[in-house]
Amino acid sequence: MEMSPWISTLSDLFLLAVGLVVLLIGVVFVRDITQTKDAVLRNYPVIGHFRYILSTLGEFFRQYFFAMDREEMPFNRAERQWIERASKDKSTTIAFGSTRNLDVVGTLIFENAAFPLLEEEHQKPATLIYGEGYCSTPYSTNSIINISAMSYGAISRPAIRALSKGAKEAGSWINTGEGGLSPYHLEGGADVVFQFGTAKYGVRNANGELDDEKLKEISSHPQVKMTEIKLSQGAKPGKGGILPATKVTAEIAEIRGIPEGKASISPNRHLDVGNIDELLRLIRRVRDVSGKPAGIKLVVGGPDWIDELFKEIKNRGLDWAPDFITIDSGDGGTGAAPMTLMDHVGLPIKESLPLVVNSLIHHGLRDRIKVVTSGKLVNPAGVAWALCTGADSVQSARGFMFALGCIQSLRCDKNTCPTGITTHDKRLQRGLNPEDKAVKVENYIHQLTHAVEIISHSCGVPEPRALKRKHVRLVQNNGRSVRLNILHPET
Ligand SMILES: Cc1cc2nc3c(=O)[nH]c(=O)nc-3n(C[C@H](O)[C@H](O)[C@H](O)COP(=O)(O)O)c2cc1C
Repeated sequence: MEMSPWISTLSDLFLLAVGLVVLLIGVVFVRDITQTKDAVLRNYPVIGHFRYILSTLGEFFRQYFFAMDREEMPFNRAERQWIERASKDKSTTIAFGSTRNLDVVGTLIFENAAFPLLEEEHQKPATLIYGEGYCSTPYSTNSIINISAMSYGAISRPAIRALSKGAKEAGSWINTGEGGLSPYHLEGGADVVFQFGTAKYGVRNANGELDDEKLKEISSHPQVKMTEIKLSQGAKPGKGGILPATKVTAEIAEIRGIPEGKASISPNRHLDVGNIDELLRLIRRVRDVSGKPAGIKLVVGGPDWIDELFKEIKNRGLDWAPDFITIDSGDGGTGAAPMTLMDHVGLPIKESLPLVVNSLIHHGLRDRIKVVTSGKLVNPAGVAWALCTGADSVQSARGFMFALGCIQSLRCDKNTCPTGITTHDKRLQRGLNPEDKAVKVENYIHQLTHAVEIISHSCGVPEPRALKRKHVRLVQNNGRSVRLNILHPET
């Protein structure tokens, strides 16, 4: 019987494909055994590649198939799913019982009151005024949850547009991060905290020094409510901002005042600030020039410098105080930072927040300086703990990235973020619709605030800002919990 020409062509193609695969394997085999850089590939040519492929894929598969709900880092599935449900305005109730192991050291347990408050006794979070009596335009807000610094550069244009609109709808502020003020921060109409870091992007002159005229111009915008001088952030204390060259687009370079396509690396500290005197002068200058509250952001290394700073402010007078201090946690997030600094340098917020609040009380500055804080405070218990400890406001970066759809793929420094949040690749940004995500940001703020309110009502106080250290306990290594005001008595 004669074979059809189709079958003959298919079998020829098949033979060709097999031949090409064999040839490819042969080439890889020869390359592997002749190279000297990789011992695994030299000893196990061709099949050694599976080790690398599987260990790369394992990073993704663990998240879906193998990691338990409370296991992953930096954020576990239970934490992320709470944010996902809240941002979609879905119910955050669960059934049957807690999956949390309540014996783990550091677990937070709030002291419920015997007689929790009835609905008619509930109140909205109290209004706070930043810089009252110390600048011409103080800032008043009752928001307890705000969007922490993330620069235009570290995150994308649609991400900032969504955050700005969501923040406006929810009544929260958005912090610009150290990459300057972009039109997208203003677009949604939210209150803005303008941040500049050690490179003074957005407010620098040709020599990289602070340009008062530029600062005045930015702060004169009615949406810009306060200025934050970034000394350091939790993920990289002692290192300035890092924006890889692939992320420095023409527009980002223009806003920052730097060359396009070259990595944007900020100095390790402000060139003009090498001691407390210079720092206090800079804070005063920023407040005088802007006419609005001025504060500092830092990750705390230990108690000594904080004590020295507050002592000096007390000596000079309250005019010299920053209007707020933002305390970031040693385990804070970033677009890019050396792992050594992320893992081992700077105090976590559990230690630094009580330390700073106690030092403020000790020096009689608690009423003068507001405390803002951040560091994995993305779920209700963390926020409530921070308020109990003495924070005035909480802010988050990664909580809002999750609200925008972040899947924790840890690609923020590669310009290949699969959810369009930390990439300037237009194809990947298509997945992030600013209108849709703005609603998620708003929902997340509302649900998180509401859940913290529920904790406060259960503890018997009418609103979150009335929470005190006596309301929260921390589980110790003997499995029993101790009240926070015993672990960290207020001085
Ligand atoms: C993508 C990204 C970019 C960031 N950029 C800045 C920045 O420009 N300035 C800054 O002070 N902090 C920056 N941070 C740190 C956050 O503002 C925040 O302090 C830290 O992530 C802790 O909050 P979180 O645990 O809620 O993320 C950035 C964090 C992330 C994740």
